[in-house]
Amino acid sequence: MFRVAVISLFPELVEAVTRVGVTGRAVERSLLSVETWNPREFAQDRHRTVDDRAYGGGPGMVMRVEPLGETIRSARASLPSGTRTIYLSPQGRVLDQALVEELAQAPGMLLVAGRYEGVDERLLENEVDMEVSIGDYVLSGGELPAMVLIDALARLQPGALGHAESASQDSFSADGLLDHPHYTRPETVVGKPVPPVLLGGDHEAIRQWRLKQALGRTWQRRPDLLARRELNEEERRLLDE
Ligand code: ADE
Repeated sequence: MFRVAVISLFPELVEAVTRVGVTGRAVERSLLSVETWNPREFAQDRHRTVDDRAYGGGPGMVMRVEPLGETIRSARASLPSGTRTIYLSPQGRVLDQALVEELAQAPGMLLVAGRYEGVDERLLENEVDMEVSIGDYVLSGGELPAMVLIDALARLQPGALGHAESASQDSFSADGLLDHPHYTRPETVVGKPVPPVLLGGDHEAIRQWRLKQALGRTWQRRPDLLARRELNEEERRLLDE
């Protein structure tokens, strides 16, 4: 079982992943556990304060050191050793499938979702092993990035995906290409027919057509993915056709 603990001021947001879809099923099948820790419960003062003004001034608050530090240490004590503490932030290493696969090797992970302008830098230095970004844009908290990471990791747990889903997952991670297009009934939609090869039942022709579509799309939309990857003989032929 892959064990995730998430530190967040909005645990109910993160807990939604345990109730729906692939992640919900992974929890149900005990392939994944997600527990949440709220720093507000570790705040000592009467008002349960978790933020404070920034030294040096300026707008925006910073998450206070003591409640968040206490929460991180308590959460870590409940997790297996070898579990990394990850802070979600736009300053982190940008998430891709290779990083997801690397993180999946561990027994679990401790995710710290910040709010406000961020957390005290010394807390990051002392308690956090790595920072992860989900892309070059700014969100108002680390909860959605934490949920992105949990979803990507849940899919990699053996038994988490049904047969149909595992095929489509392979088409991104294993072969490093974008997916081919998909079609279902009816055969014609606003005058557009399903590509005839998909109706013919020739499995080898279908496989080649899908690979060609995946290559063409990747070449058109994400040439950077092709640049990082060698083409085999069949792929080179399909791209040249
Ligand atoms: N927190 C705010 N924006 C973020 C991003 N893009 N990735 C990870 N954590 C974040």
